[in-house]
Amino acid sequence: MCHNPSNPLSGKKIGVAITGSFCTFTKLYEQLTVLKEAGADLYPVISYHVGSLDSRFGTATEHAAKIEELTGKKPITTIPEAEPFGPKIKLDAMVIIPCTGNTLSKLANAITDTPVLMAAKAHLRNGRPLILSIASNDALGLSMKQLGLLMNAKNIYFVPYGQDDYKAKPNSMIAHVEQLSDTIEAALEGRQLQPVLKSPFEG
Ligand SMILES: Cc1cc2nc3c(=O)[nH]c(=O)nc-3n(C[C@H](O)[C@H](O)[C@H](O)COP(=O)(O)O)c2cc1C
Repeated sequence: MCHNPSNPLSGKKIGVAITGSFCTFTKLYEQLTVLKEAGADLYPVISYHVGSLDSRFGTATEHAAKIEELTGKKPITTIPEAEPFGPKIKLDAMVIIPCTGNTLSKLANAITDTPVLMAAKAHLRNGRPLILSIASNDALGLSMKQLGLLMNAKNIYFVPYGQDDYKAKPNSMIAHVEQLSDTIEAALEGRQLQPVLKSPFEG
């Protein structure tokens, strides 16, 4: 793997917290490779459901092995393992990718009952950026209120997102994951990458 020291993400410690939008894991894996090739030092954390559910998109064991292969570290799977991210392991940034409606809604309500939510809460204590890469069938439905709360929360940034299938799934929204690196770079400078939603005045 060739690292480019001039890449803004080179040497940055980035938490990668993964929740159960299993259908978007292929895109997640592509982005883990992009971050690694940029020279980022990745710290993986998985939710209880990612650590235990098998689905048509692969088994929990296969996903954990792939995440370890791509990040170079065994994923954190428990709340006690995730707690040191605040006081002990100081990350430059953390990203929740993919971020389910479930995790988004709990985060907005300060619920901390999974390793991902523990890691996010601990990381926010340090005043560093937390970036959300959403993938939720009800982002424009029941999760919309929570999305609005987090859009206005300090130190929380979003990978730009939009409707992925407005005809079949009118409430569904998904992040443009290919903009992950650009979003992290902007967040490290305290900026939200724009446009976070597509403008009607641009092509
Ligand atoms: C195959 C499969 C695909 C799923 N895809 C999504 C998804 O894209 N977005 C979402 O918000 N939830 C999705 N879910 C539901 C979540 O896995 C479920 O809400 C779970 O409680 C999330 O827990 P976590 O956020 O702690 O990982 C999916 C579930 C399954 C079994």
